[in-house]
Amino acid sequence: MLPGITQQRRASILSKALWTRPEEEIRLLTGYEGPIEIVDHHLSHAASAYYFSGFEEAAIFTVDGVGEWPTTTYSVARGLEIERLDQVDFPNSLGLFYSALTGYLGFEVNEGEYKVMGLAPYGQPKYVGQIRQLIEDGAGGEYRLNFKYFGFLQEDKMFSEALCELLGAPGRSRGSQITQFHMDVARSAQLVLEEILLAKVRYLHGRAPSDNLCMAGGVALNVVANGRCLREGPFKRLFVQPAAGDAGTCLGAAAVAHVRSTGTHPAQERLQHVYLGPLNPVNDVAALLESSGVKFRDYRRDAAGLLDYVVGKLIAGEVIGWVYGRMEFGPRALGARSILADPRRPEMKERINALVKQREDFRPFAPAVLESHAREHFSLDHPSPFMLETCQVISPIPLPAITHVDGSARVQTVTRATNPRFADLLEHFYRRTDCPILLNTSFNLRGEPIVCSTMDAIATFGRSKIETLVIEDFVIDRSDIPPAWKHLSKGRSIGAHEYLVYAML
Ligand SMILES: [Fe+2]
Repeated sequence: MLPGITQQRRASILSKALWTRPEEEIRLLTGYEGPIEIVDHHLSHAASAYYFSGFEEAAIFTVDGVGEWPTTTYSVARGLEIERLDQVDFPNSLGLFYSALTGYLGFEVNEGEYKVMGLAPYGQPKYVGQIRQLIEDGAGGEYRLNFKYFGFLQEDKMFSEALCELLGAPGRSRGSQITQFHMDVARSAQLVLEEILLAKVRYLHGRAPSDNLCMAGGVALNVVANGRCLREGPFKRLFVQPAAGDAGTCLGAAAVAHVRSTGTHPAQERLQHVYLGPLNPVNDVAALLESSGVKFRDYRRDAAGLLDYVVGKLIAGEVIGWVYGRMEFGPRALGARSILADPRRPEMKERINALVKQREDFRPFAPAVLESHAREHFSLDHPSPFMLETCQVISPIPLPAITHVDGSARVQTVTRATNPRFADLLEHFYRRTDCPILLNTSFNLRGEPIVCSTMDAIATFGRSKIETLVIEDFVIDRSDIPPAWKHLSKGRSIGAHEYLVYAML
């Protein structure tokens, strides 16, 4: 029996897991009649990192809340083979440890973990001693949660009253004020997470002595911890699957199925980009805008003109909605579905929050920088195309809108090879300002997914106060949009053309 979990509870969880349903649904939805393989959750995470890392051999570390029973796995890979060396099973879980503290701090569990990470630099590690009592670092790959402080085994609650007593305060209710105490708890939780991850990365290196480390699983989205594992750990190179959360398991499972069925490697080289999503064909965008009757600028034969116009807006302090090419796979906007602004302006963080994001003040915005200039502005000695690491800002240019309170930034490096239009925009901005950096945040309203289609972008633009919208080769200024666009909903059931025409009435 698993520690801290009753047989009845285990049976109850297993009874809810209807193993045959995915097969039924796949066949029902797609009409597919061929063979279907079910791939282990953590093997999918591991494969999603290793097979796309470009490494010929590596150690693999996967860490999440819970997938099936494992919550942490240690593997070694060489060629096509991935061999699991060790694992930690539910209910012991680093992801659930961090999620419980996320819940305690008044953020949504499985959603707000990155907010804890963002809040941490504002705090002091005053509660490290207490938080270490929540998790015991065991021998080898083991660690154990102290279930006295967690609620998820007995009830639908992540933390217990004992945690409130330990920290000397009740959990923060959602939306209430964030105090220095909450910042100190966040810092302490982050440090304890980093301590355990670092210890386990060292253990993994002992079992799988390689220079290369691959990481995936939701905890691998903690970019601050990743950076520390690389800087202070024994591995020389790190590849984190950009879609490190469960979204990336589809990629890993497909890679495993590819290897099993063909005996060949699913990728020829390291994953170069994640612009793998839907595209808005230029002519379709044009037809949609024309049918809507909205006034827009058409730069189909004048890319330089578009860049000049947008850079002028950026320099003037405007906030731009930017939709170009295929949408990003994974949780980060990387210049395909982004909100862009001038990072040199001290007021820009508050401004973007007021115009569109409406998110907590403490959360930093991230910079996108031309890769060729990255080292002049950030303490980064390698490309960071997926915004999965933090580093210190060392720029001679003050960059208040993208510099976190501890002087760090979560950097995206951009090249012409992978996103030519975005690289050209950065280049144009650089030519006119000597600053090869733009503030880049995801194009969405608070609580909504990132925009994907032309209609998503228009609906979000309409309901926000962003000043300019760029979709492919077209630019729409806020002053030109019809009043009805301010009430567009993304939850529509009729075609985009009809909807826009309807909205014009
Ligand atoms: Fe997972």
